[in-house]
Amino acid sequence: MKGIILAGGSGTRLSPSTDGINKHLLAVYDKPMIYYPISILMLGGIKDIMIISTKDDQERFKALLGDGSALGISLTYEHQIEPNGIPEALIIGEKFIGKDDVTLILGDNIFYGQGFTNLFRRAIKNHEHATIFGYRVKDPKRFGVVEFDQNQKVLSLEEKPEEPKSDFAVTGLYIYDHHAAKIARKLTFSARGELEITDVNREYLKKGQLDVQLLGRGFAWMDAGTHESLFEASEFIKNIQDRQGFKLACLEEIAFYLRYISKEALYKKGKSMEKNDYGKYLMEIANRKHNQQYWESIDRDPVLGLVENE
Ligand code: G1P
Repeated sequence: MKGIILAGGSGTRLSPSTDGINKHLLAVYDKPMIYYPISILMLGGIKDIMIISTKDDQERFKALLGDGSALGISLTYEHQIEPNGIPEALIIGEKFIGKDDVTLILGDNIFYGQGFTNLFRRAIKNHEHATIFGYRVKDPKRFGVVEFDQNQKVLSLEEKPEEPKSDFAVTGLYIYDHHAAKIARKLTFSARGELEITDVNREYLKKGQLDVQLLGRGFAWMDAGTHESLFEASEFIKNIQDRQGFKLACLEEIAFYLRYISKEALYKKGKSMEKNDYGKYLMEIANRKHNQQYWESIDRDPVLGLVENE
């Protein structure tokens, strides 16, 4: 399974904050926005990840994340010339995907909730052709909307409908087989001048190859694409972290618990920023007494949210 993060776009909704920098490099509370989708892919066990950004910012992403080896993963970089829509990520990543399956995630999407890792890993394991994730929202008109029956069989999909047929938005997380790029290539631009991911999903639906997984009310799904939502997401992350003492989307911690990096490497990374809370946290984890216990019970790890036989 390959992973693609789409971190392009013009970010005009966050102007002037984004006039000089790509939105996905802005902080959501205590870490860059791009950390959140990377954490999701890592928790899903995906190690081979392509980050698609704007051309101007590609070097900045590289400066931040390098080739991924410090996290025990592989990162490659591509850029999108114009913000032509989400499916373009599949076209840009076509060679990278090859004959593999691919998980595509939008760079400003944040997922959080008990059991998410399990749900996502199970979705990857059971995945056949295309899997999307639905989440109930108050304002479905703003999103792709999925309608389904009692057996969770998808009935219809619409992009930003005037009269939504359900309250379930399609989140920015998609699992596809390798045909997705071919489908994306055949699309035409929508009325808003973009290639629409909903049209890719509709192709799969037509062939009876689209599955939907619903994220229940215990999950949080947020995007951070406007001043308001960016602030709310930061507040949310801060509240949870302050309460639990665990950080969300702390890539170094995840890499450590997945045993991609050593305790020494984790400590060293923490030490390099020991003056701040993030660095102190990494050092604390490296020194934690109960790490052995965590490893022995990795399938029940409360940090990674892996619950055995859930
Ligand atoms: C895009 C997709 C939409 C999806 C949403 C999730 O919307 O087109 O189907 O529900 O991402 O964040 P956009 O961000 O382009 O408005």
